Amino acid sequence: MDKLQIGGGVALEGEVRISGAKNATLPILAGALLADGPVTIGNVPHLQDVTTTIELLGRMGVTVTIDERMRIEVDPSTIREYFAPYELVKTMRASILVLGPLLARFGRADVSLPGGCAIGARPVNIHVAGLQAMGADIHIEGGYIRARAERLKGARLVLDTVTVTGTENLMMAATLADGETVIENAAREPEVVDLANFLIAMGAKIAGAGTDRVVIEGVRALRGVHYEVLPDRIEAGTYLVAGAITAGHVRIKHARPEHLDAVVVKLREAGASVASGDNWVEVDMRGRRPRSVDVRTAPYPAFPTDMQAQFAALDTIASGVGTVVETIFENRFMHMLEMRRMGAEIRLEGNTAIIHGVGRLTAAPVMATDLRASASLVLAGLIAEGRTEIERIYHIDRGYETIEEKLAQLGARIKRVPN
Ligand code: EPU
Repeated sequence: MDKLQIGGGVALEGEVRISGAKNATLPILAGALLADGPVTIGNVPHLQDVTTTIELLGRMGVTVTIDERMRIEVDPSTIREYFAPYELVKTMRASILVLGPLLARFGRADVSLPGGCAIGARPVNIHVAGLQAMGADIHIEGGYIRARAERLKGARLVLDTVTVTGTENLMMAATLADGETVIENAAREPEVVDLANFLIAMGAKIAGAGTDRVVIEGVRALRGVHYEVLPDRIEAGTYLVAGAITAGHVRIKHARPEHLDAVVVKLREAGASVASGDNWVEVDMRGRRPRSVDVRTAPYPAFPTDMQAQFAALDTIASGVGTVVETIFENRFMHMLEMRRMGAEIRLEGNTAIIHGVGRLTAAPVMATDLRASASLVLAGLIAEGRTEIERIYHIDRGYETIEEKLAQLGARIKRVPN
């Protein structure tokens, strides 16, 4: 297993290109199952979770081909099985996203129930209840969700909690259902909108994506199309924090600034100058120490849970005291304990972390526990005195494309070494 070695203390400077969004690519790949013909998808990030999804589709008999530019062609016409095995679902919970498309298009799906997860229980009851309300016959048996339906029927679904993949699964299922489906309390994340745009390009009738009320009028069939995935706002936000935390000057390009509002507000509160254009954002913190910021996670457009750990890292060396309140996942503070090992002063009280900024962090061997926690340890490593070693970086590879190359391009002293 590889690890990352980071020599701290370099102010990052330069430009970095943002990749396609992981959390849009995964539902779009699953959504390709709905099409009558081949779908091609561009701006796909080279990530472990994408590889896992391709493997999942391949196991079902779907033909997946990838060209050298990471354009993926998915041809669902060769499908033989409607099955997502435990061994893949346990490595990637987003596999649940095939449930809605399989059921809507082929009338059956056997999908392993994801278990708990490092960051929280993360049940899928809302996905299941929504499909049942659309007429599906669903049993949980032997750890699997076994779902059957002739043709799903449109329904009015009021989601208990705002759920991103839940909204996506139900929206995909509704595209081929008989009649109108209304999803109330829908997730408004840009990735939900990107998936909706992809489905609309295939011929789906969807209105209201990006609001909390999505209306889908079922159609008989969807056609194959080409679609380009939107840029990754969490990768973008992570590099902006990297610029700020190192007192550097970083420009991200090929990004969507309008998806970064909550992050930019916090960077400005931390004392950074932030400028943006059509598809770029620049953060400038040269010669300054960040000020502590308070963040509270909530569904989009509020501050994203996927950026919480990165801002916690910023607070560790900022002037003042910052609080981080995590309202989405009940166990998303593992990075706090690792950062303490680097000298951070963090007190945890339930879902709140109180962080007293210290003058410096010191390098230590630390362990990545989940994707965004890993990103925060990389950020902490960039400012710590000495050489930080991060183990279990397969978590990082699930969601950050060539992170060591992109950071090295900004001047960081970072390398991947075999363990
Ligand atoms: N929830 C339920 N029941 C359900 C579904 C969700 O109680 O049936 C709860 C969850 O336990 C959680 C809350 O609802 O407390 C919100 O979870 P959500 O369903 O929105 O999360 P998700 O769809 O499983 C996606 C992203 C996550 C991101 C969250 C929140 C994908 C593939 N994953 O997960 O991304 O943190 O939304 O924005 O889109 C990551 O990229 O590192 C990551 C974890």
